Amino acid sequence: MNVLLTGGMGYIGSHTALLLINQGHQVTILDNLANSKISVLDNLQLITSFRPNFIQADVLDTSSVEKAIQEFTINAVIHFAGVKAVGESVENPLKYHKNNVQGTISLIEAMKNCNIKNLVFSSSATVYGVPSFLPINEEHPINPNNPYGKSKFYIEQILTDIAQSDEDWNIVNLRYFNPVGSHASGLIGDDPNGIPNNLMPYINQVASKHRPHLNIFGNDYKTSDGTGIRDYIHVEDLSDAHLAALHWINRSQNNSLLNINTFNIGTGVGYSVMEIIQAYENINKIEIPYKITPRRLGDIASCYSDPSKAQKLLHWKAKRTLEDMCSSSWKFQRQMQQLP
Ligand code: WQD
Repeated sequence: MNVLLTGGMGYIGSHTALLLINQGHQVTILDNLANSKISVLDNLQLITSFRPNFIQADVLDTSSVEKAIQEFTINAVIHFAGVKAVGESVENPLKYHKNNVQGTISLIEAMKNCNIKNLVFSSSATVYGVPSFLPINEEHPINPNNPYGKSKFYIEQILTDIAQSDEDWNIVNLRYFNPVGSHASGLIGDDPNGIPNNLMPYINQVASKHRPHLNIFGNDYKTSDGTGIRDYIHVEDLSDAHLAALHWINRSQNNSLLNINTFNIGTGVGYSVMEIIQAYENINKIEIPYKITPRRLGDIASCYSDPSKAQKLLHWKAKRTLEDMCSSSWKFQRQMQQLP
């Protein structure tokens, strides 16, 4: 397939690009480089000896998206482009609805104008808000409690309307839990600008002595050790889920039963912050100093998935271990900072 990856220079997009190239697909990346580096292109070529087609543009620029689709005879799109910091979304909701919701509308218009109607959308478990039961399946109530999660939910709703209006559309929403880890080469990974919001990149920076210690945001939650529990999934398992989604689209094109579906993409296993620290220290033989600080606003105690629907319908299951997540994360950090 000729696949367009919007935001394909980012953490998850670049890993998915790598997988698709290795599977023999033609990959075109459209990215505005607002939160990624052009060096990712060189690293993808280093790993695969193929250089993806690249267009520096914003999904909000409908004509540029159309041009990319036509120029590279795209027949499917994976839409990663968007902004994703929960805290920032509370301070600046307009940025999130413009980039995420309006950006997706612009993409859909471009696809429609080119009569390309196969789409995988990067959604998020944040659409569920505070869990009312665990593990979370796709029937769990939708109740996002921040503009980032709301933007993802609004997009899912828009895509449902599009699919219901035209059976030629084939759409898959993937609700990511907590992506972590890196490709075995250590050449691509989670490389956020500024102070990392997420746990694993912050631990990496403590490990490389870039930061003195980790702040554990609260140890008074009703969990096994008082720290927050999340469903961490290796980014390469997550990339595999996108390939499985494309295969589902190919299968569903031949039957008009269902032309949109939504899947939780997680391991189904929750680990606490303390368990992550201990696993990271054990596998990498590194000490991670930490301090207990007050809870972070908006955080929840526990969140982990029931991934059985994806296992059943996408024939996909996460297979990498917590040790793989921690060792590959540290390898990327070492590589990025040219540490021995
Ligand atoms: C994990 C756990 C924190 C940092 C985020 C966002 C969103 C989504 C998934 C895309 C929590 C604790 C963290 C730190 C800590 N991605 N923590 N100290 O909040 O579950 O979800 O990632 O949709 O980006 O919703 O992930 O990695 O920020 O936190 O103690 O310095 O680690 O309290 O328990 P989160 P996270």
